Amino acid sequence: MKKITINDLITWKRDGRKFASSTAYDASFAQLFEQQEMPVLLVGDSLGMVLQGQDNTLPVTIEDMAYHTRSVRLGSPNSLLMADMPFMSYATPEQAGQNAAKLMQSGANMVKLEGGKWLVDTVKFLTERAVPVCAHLGLTPQSVNIFGGYKIQGRDQEKADQMVSDAIAMQEAGAQIVLLECVPAELAKRITKAVDIPVIGIGAGSDTDGQILVMHDMFGISANYMPKFSKNFLAETGDIRKAVSLYISEVQDGTFPGSDHTIA
Ligand code: KIV
Repeated sequence: MKKITINDLITWKRDGRKFASSTAYDASFAQLFEQQEMPVLLVGDSLGMVLQGQDNTLPVTIEDMAYHTRSVRLGSPNSLLMADMPFMSYATPEQAGQNAAKLMQSGANMVKLEGGKWLVDTVKFLTERAVPVCAHLGLTPQSVNIFGGYKIQGRDQEKADQMVSDAIAMQEAGAQIVLLECVPAELAKRITKAVDIPVIGIGAGSDTDGQILVMHDMFGISANYMPKFSKNFLAETGDIRKAVSLYISEVQDGTFPGSDHTIA
């Protein structure tokens, strides 16, 4: 696979070419994903749940994230690699700067932060200092205790409008990708049209520019729970490489996510 940069994603958005991405946490899977030409990987703080067996992502530390980012980068030298800033590692712009540096120095090409307008100063601070940012909106798992559970976000008009303006504010602050989790498909479509930067969705319907899955869900091996919007590609293929390749091609040709895997 050739080296993937944000410019490729912008071109794909402009050309209407959908792209797939996945979480990855170790070098072996990162290499397998790269061999199947997965252009974008995310070292997600979901590792707290799928690797560590925690109840939520809050216990994950910046050291955990840096460790797994280094491993994934070694396995996949050419993907566009995003890494999550964990809970409370970006509470102020200065703190965000110090912690983002650890992820960038571990091989990330971009850091991902959860939140909207309150992050404008932080996103400006990071991008002005050469740290690319992905803004995660919708169901932001680090806010599970505010939401009172993992709930679909943006169902009512006011919240939906707020999310659109958050996405625009993040773009204006310098964010280069928006990631939408668990939002109604119509809202995801609206946001994808409202911004020029690529939008990646998970549980956000088929109209976003790209899709992402937690790799454990893609293989049906999540310890406790399989989200309704996810699909077990291993069950259909019986082989990990074929499962990854099927996921990528179903995203590219628009088969995934279909109506069974979409929040109305
Ligand atoms: O941590 C993670 O894996 C994520 C994905 C759900 C997008 O943020």
